[in-house]
Amino acid sequence: MNPLRLRASVLLSTALLILVIWNIRQNSGNPGSPAYQTRDVYQTRDDSRLHLLSAPNSKFSERKETLDDGETIIYHKDYTEDLVRENATLFSLVRNGELYDMLRTIRNFEDRFNQFKHYGWIFANDEKFTESFQNQVKNLCSGSVTFVHLPEQMWNYPEFIDRAKADQARRKMQRQQIKYGGSESYRHMCRFFSGVFYRLEAMKKYRYFWRVEPDVEFKCSIKYDPFEVMRKENKMYGFTLAPLELHTTVPTLWNSALEYMAKYPERIAQDNNFLFLTDDDGKTFNMCHFWSNFEIGDLDFFRSDKYNHFFNFMDHKGGIYYERWGDAPIHSIAVSILLPHNRLKHFTSTGYLHKPNLQCDGSSEMMIENECICSPEDDGSWGDQSCIPKIYDIHKDWQRPWYAPKERYLPIHDNILRMMEEKRIQLREEGITEEVIEVRMNEYLASIHSPEEGE
Ligand SMILES: *[C@@H]1O[C@H](CO)[C@@H](O)[C@H](O)[C@H]1NC(C)=O
Repeated sequence: MNPLRLRASVLLSTALLILVIWNIRQNSGNPGSPAYQTRDVYQTRDDSRLHLLSAPNSKFSERKETLDDGETIIYHKDYTEDLVRENATLFSLVRNGELYDMLRTIRNFEDRFNQFKHYGWIFANDEKFTESFQNQVKNLCSGSVTFVHLPEQMWNYPEFIDRAKADQARRKMQRQQIKYGGSESYRHMCRFFSGVFYRLEAMKKYRYFWRVEPDVEFKCSIKYDPFEVMRKENKMYGFTLAPLELHTTVPTLWNSALEYMAKYPERIAQDNNFLFLTDDDGKTFNMCHFWSNFEIGDLDFFRSDKYNHFFNFMDHKGGIYYERWGDAPIHSIAVSILLPHNRLKHFTSTGYLHKPNLQCDGSSEMMIENECICSPEDDGSWGDQSCIPKIYDIHKDWQRPWYAPKERYLPIHDNILRMMEEKRIQLREEGITEEVIEVRMNEYLASIHSPEEGE
């Protein structure tokens, strides 16, 4: 070899060697280099995912099960730690298209309550849940998750409904621009919650359910177990809010309920909550009802003959399809006439928000204690547009929470009834006897009604 070439190639090799060694030192020889550290931290994070939602030290194993119906998939999360839990499940009816509303609600619900209990959650849909829906939802739930594709007969007209009549009713209500008046699926949903959901195979093994809607939020933490309260206090139906129903959706609901009461007096509970639903001793419905998008209930009650006898009667009246009876007034009437009033439970200070209605009651100490992110000034549960005060007015054994306003309920829906009640209070304050007050009231009523009767 040419000595000049040899020297050049040795020089080149040496230079290459130095370059390689320098390179290796740059990449690995210096652990303090920024590039190395970034990668290291990233890898560490990736390896041990932060389970922010799990209580400390909680470990679980996951296992998938498909029930015999082929339409129910359960992802079991079995926790190694001992959790004291009630015989209860969370329940949501939700569509694939509501995924993000549902995820926000799950995240909030886990944060405010379920991270400490890991209650299982049943999701039901009249269509099949997509893979991506299931994966995203089960990723955020801290407990077992069940996905149910509802069988067709649970989301359809019962055979006794006249479909042409139902079509006509929907078109008429649509023309009148009544909320969801033209919607068929809304009515299937109302019937599903009124008389069907508790029959689901997946619900059978539970005693209590807690209904959670996509897009609701709890503005306060719930630092106790409401299911435990239900069991210990022997309650069958729990609620948070009680606003007014739209009267245009239930024109014949009240008369059907009265008919049931007249026909089956032996099925009506003593010491019930009937007066909650009326401001004129039963003549008319005052539109007060429990807002069923939050409800914690005893499934054994809903599955009982007591409830189903009532539901079947109302179902056959057809008002779910020929009008637009909701599950909220149907549940409210059922629990108010079929149960003694002390089986009902008012859950307070939850910060429950289903727009536009918010429950944000409590003292400022409670707001801190419960980590509330809402103002009691915005509370819609004790105001004069809420029926909550009424339930405390009519039952002597129901004590208002100490922080609650003391104002008595005045009829909200019917202006005449409201004016009469105001007048009655005024006359009482003047010391006038009840008999005289009633005479005056009748005169007053006659004076209001006479122009109409002349027409
Ligand atoms: C849970 O409640 C259901 C319905 O009452 C009952 O059939 C079941 O045996 C209960 N499970 C347990 C573990 O108590």
